[in-house]
Amino acid sequence: MKAIEVNSLSKTFGHLVAVDHISFEVEEGEIFAFLGANGAGKTTTIMMLATALNPTSGRATVCGHDIINDKNEVRKCIGIVFEEMSLDVRLTARENLDFHARMYHLDRKTRQERVSQVLNLVGLRSKQDMLVKHYSGGMQRRLEVARGMLNYPRVLFLDEPTLGLDVQTRRMLWDYAKKLNRESGTTILLTTHYVEEADYLCDRVAILEQGKIVVVDTPEGLKNSLGGSLVSIRLSQGSARDMAKWLKEVSWVKKISQHDSQLDLSVKAGGTKIPQIVKLAKEHGFAISSVSQRKPSLEDAFLHHVGKRLKDE
Ligand SMILES: Nc1ncnc2c1ncn2[C@@H]1O[C@H](COP(=O)(O)OP(=O)(O)OP(=O)(O)O)[C@@H](O)[C@H]1O
Ligand SMILES: [Mg+2]
Repeated sequence: MKAIEVNSLSKTFGHLVAVDHISFEVEEGEIFAFLGANGAGKTTTIMMLATALNPTSGRATVCGHDIINDKNEVRKCIGIVFEEMSLDVRLTARENLDFHARMYHLDRKTRQERVSQVLNLVGLRSKQDMLVKHYSGGMQRRLEVARGMLNYPRVLFLDEPTLGLDVQTRRMLWDYAKKLNRESGTTILLTTHYVEEADYLCDRVAILEQGKIVVVDTPEGLKNSLGGSLVSIRLSQGSARDMAKWLKEVSWVKKISQHDSQLDLSVKAGGTKIPQIVKLAKEHGFAISSVSQRKPSLEDAFLHHVGKRLKDE
C-alpha cells in the first residue's frame, strides 16, 4: 500500500484554480517535498489531504483511507504542522501538548508519557514549563513538530516547517525530521520554497507551478536531467537573447536559459565545450566577459522547470 495516493485532485476558489488535477504517490517511509513558489497550491493540497478542506474534484487516499469518505480514519493516522503558528502562547509547552493529546482521548498516564517523549525528541523537555510566548520562533516550530507527533502518525504533513528560521535551527529541524523518518518509519510530506531544504531532506521532489505538478523526481534525477554540466556565460558585448537564439541550434547544447546578460547552457562534459563556445561567440560577434562551469544544482533544475524555457519555446 502507498502512504499517499492522489488521483487528479483539484481545488477551485471561485474562478481561481488553486490545485489543478494533480496526481502523485508517496511510498511508505518516504520523505516527499512539494517545492513551489508562493501561491503554487502547496498548502491547499496539504489541507485537502489532511481532510481540513474538501476537494472540488478528484480522489486521494492517505494510509489507504479515502480523504472524503473516511475522514476520521485519515485523521487518526496523520499529524500536521500548519504553515501559520497555531500554539496557545499563554500556555506552557507541556500544557499545549497535553491539551492537544486530550483530543485523541488518551488517558492521563499515556498523555504524560507521550508528552514527555515528544518533548525529549525535539530537545525541549528542560523548557517544558516555560510559557510559549517566551519561546523563540525556532523553539515554537520544534514544539509544533512535537505536537504533530503526539498520536504517533504514520504520515506527517509539514507545511513550510522552517519558514523564517535561522540556518542552525533549520538544520536542526531537518536532522530531527530525518531521525524521525529513519527511526519510526514516519512518511513525511513537506512543502517548501527552500530548494536546499528539498535537496537535503527529501527522497523525491514534486515541483509545483500554478496548481500543476510540473515534474516529480529524486533531487539527483532532477539535477542530472540538465545534462552533466552547466556552463554560464556572461557577455560584455552583444545581446544575450540573440546569442541564445543561435546557440539553440547547436546540437550539443541540451538546454539553455537566459537571464539579463547571462546564459546558462546544459551540456555534457562542459569543460571540453568552453573553447568551442568562445570560438563560436567570437565568430558571431559576441564578446564574452566570463565563462564558468559547474555541476547543476537543484535550484538550477527548479528554475529550469518553472522558469523560462527558451529551448522549448
Ligand atoms: N480560502 C481561500 N480562498 C480563496 N483563495 C484561496 C484560498 N486559499 C488559497 N487560495 C488561493 O489559492 C492559491 C494557492 O494557495 P496556497 O496557499 O495553496 O499556495 P502555497 O503554495 O501554499 O503558497 P505559499 O508558498 O505562499 O504558502 C493562491 O492563489 C491563493 O490565493
Ligand atoms: Mg502555503
